[in-house]
Amino acid sequence: MLNTTFLGMELPNPVMIAAGPWNRDGKGLKESLEAGAGAVVTESIVSDTMLDVRPRISCDRLGAENIRMYSDIQVEGWEREMDIAKSAGGVVIASISGHTPSELAYLASKMERFGADAIELSVSNPAAESLEVVASHADILFDMTKEVVSAVSLPVMVKLSQNTTNISKVAKAVKAAGGSGVTAINTVRGILGVDLEKAVPSLSTYGGISGEYIRPLGLASVATIAQTVDIPICGVGGISSAQNALEYLMLGASAVQVGTDVMIQGKDSIRKIVQDLEIWAQNHNVRSLEEIRGKALENLKAFDEMKFEPAVSHANGVPCGENCSLCVNACMYSAISRSGDSISIDRSRCTGCGLCTSICPAKKLKLDL
Ligand SMILES: Cc1cc2nc3c(=O)[nH]c(=O)nc-3n(C[C@H](O)[C@H](O)[C@H](O)COP(=O)(O)O)c2cc1C
Ligand code: SF4
Ligand code: SF4
Repeated sequence: MLNTTFLGMELPNPVMIAAGPWNRDGKGLKESLEAGAGAVVTESIVSDTMLDVRPRISCDRLGAENIRMYSDIQVEGWEREMDIAKSAGGVVIASISGHTPSELAYLASKMERFGADAIELSVSNPAAESLEVVASHADILFDMTKEVVSAVSLPVMVKLSQNTTNISKVAKAVKAAGGSGVTAINTVRGILGVDLEKAVPSLSTYGGISGEYIRPLGLASVATIAQTVDIPICGVGGISSAQNALEYLMLGASAVQVGTDVMIQGKDSIRKIVQDLEIWAQNHNVRSLEEIRGKALENLKAFDEMKFEPAVSHANGVPCGENCSLCVNACMYSAISRSGDSISIDRSRCTGCGLCTSICPAKKLKLDL
């Protein structure tokens, strides 16, 4: 049931492994496909390879910060790497990055010749300022996409950034330039933390944040594009479970990508996500991804469509023997109290903010809507 067509490419499942050093060469790409990924995206290939900085990755429980600067393999070297990757028999998408439309067109046509199945333009790495600017400029992005589209006969997808004021506008520019799809999102400019004893930030320059930290941003970006532009979307950012993948699909993505989770847990994490997705689909009688794609968008309104009316929480005398008082502590309107094993809500104080219902681990509280 998970097999799908994305930009005309037949995929065994919609879960790809995203661009990054885990896909730095043919061997890494082949291993990603063998681990069960529906498709793989190369680390971004550039015309001028650079020395890397050290250190360039820092991570914690929720995600990572990186200043990794693209593939260190020369363009010509990718002929051999593509051959190795393609020997696994799956879909290989070449991620390319560059500063001008002609540079990108050159890279794209090389990758087409080397056997790539599609091109992903990476114009949104926040560790490289100029590229971040590109991801916010619909006109520059239009020129880049158009030139690449006319240079190859492969599907061209463009990877967008959340570091922009209007992601719909850039997605529209991609479509107008003939792009086949968009990927959203790249890492988000940030600093993971500071070592207080040494007064040293997590990395020595601003990095790109990935993992759980950015999933809400990725979900909102995908939903925004899905609600405003008719273009296939590949969702990425903080996916580490089938549930996360389903969230992206229900908000309008046709496929998803996983990066940080693979970096931290290893490539077998993909196998688990795909298996759990299959189980979820069977348990919910879902026969095709089309049945769930964008389903949650029906329940996502624009702010000015919201109903402005008081709602009250509905929990008078809920029996609650849990060793927890989260709702009592969280209610900023002092509406919740506990008496022994019973939680009560003073309806005259409750303003219906909803915090208690989402914070309750036992899901005992409800809002009257
Ligand atoms: C160490 C590292 C290197 C990355 N390298 C690239 C890259 O070369 N090209 C690119 O487009 N995205 C790159 N990314 C971004 C990922 O492909 C992905 O968009 C982002 O990390 C969000 O997904 P995640 O939360 O699943 O990691 C990199 C991410 C990390 C963590
Ligand atoms: S909905 Fe908000 S105001 Fe009402 S009881 Fe819950 S936390 Fe308090
Ligand atoms: S948050 Fe839920 S589990 Fe905790 S005390 Fe309130 S009703 Fe009970």
